[in-house]
Amino acid sequence: MTIPTFGVGTFRLTGQTVIDSVTAALELGYRAVDTAQIYGNEADVGKAIADSGVRRDDLFVTTKIWTDNYSRTKLVPSLRESLRKLRTDYVDLTLIHWPAPGKGIALPEFMEALAEAKAAGLTRRIGISNFNIALTRQAIDVVGKGEIATNQIELSPYLQNAKLTAFLKAQDIMVTSYMTLAYGKVLHDPVLRQIADKHQATVAQVALAWALRLGYAVIPSSTKRENLASNLLARDLHLDKDDMAAIAALERNGREVNPAGLAPDWD
Ligand SMILES: NC(=O)c1ccc[n+]([C@@H]2O[C@H](COP(=O)([O-])OP(=O)(O)OC[C@H]3O[C@@H](n4cnc5c(N)ncnc54)[C@H](OP(=O)(O)O)[C@@H]3O)[C@@H](O)[C@H]2O)c1
Repeated sequence: MTIPTFGVGTFRLTGQTVIDSVTAALELGYRAVDTAQIYGNEADVGKAIADSGVRRDDLFVTTKIWTDNYSRTKLVPSLRESLRKLRTDYVDLTLIHWPAPGKGIALPEFMEALAEAKAAGLTRRIGISNFNIALTRQAIDVVGKGEIATNQIELSPYLQNAKLTAFLKAQDIMVTSYMTLAYGKVLHDPVLRQIADKHQATVAQVALAWALRLGYAVIPSSTKRENLASNLLARDLHLDKDDMAAIAALERNGREVNPAGLAPDWD
């Protein structure tokens, strides 16, 4: 029950843009797609998947429950609505999008409701996103060790999350890195550029290969077919120890996403 290490993200992409992006990704060989209720693009993602001709069994679809749907009465119906939009009977992975301490629904309530969604067959696996160590512990206490497939967190060469990733590894919870490219910021980094030149690779490939080598899953998004294609080739780029050490030194706690009321106290 592992999760794929390479998928395509869809944040900020809607309408024909997301249809084109997911269509191109599936043509290029991506088989995992990351969406969320709040992205407002599940129906478009569903259309792109349906029109692709790729068999459902060969695909790994992830969605995320939005904070408005965290109550026991809303979570499962909201996921059923996501499945309708995505034109599928089940998703492969459903995440709690943010811990959202400011939203007034206690963690045990939404984690139990998420476990119910899995028991009902609506999702093959469950997980969390943007959880710190303390909240991940609480989530484990509710659903049980081994039930949480991943914690999807912002993680890039500029934000390496040493404490949290060590904890997740010890708990056998897969790390999914979102915004591995720090929404494009790392692409101008001179150290990454040097490593890219050494391997005749792109800077984006270096950042993605770094995350993959650390055992993380990645879900980079792009509106451009050539970027989707070259990003996928990061799987063939093997960084050496010196490269990994140089990238480790780029840590600067460079967090891009930190919404008030939704984010936890980061570790
Ligand atoms: N769980 C959460 O709270 C959360 C939060 C944020 C994101 N996510 C997920 O993570 C995914 C990835 O994050 P993201 O899309 O925000 O950021 P990202 O993957 O770090 O970066 C995407 C940006 O990088 C550019 N890009 C991609 N490949 C490139 C390449 N090879 N060369 C140059 N530029 C390139 C894209 O522009 P072009 O379109 O021009 O290529 C886009 O502007 C999202 O789509 C979403 O699915 C989850």
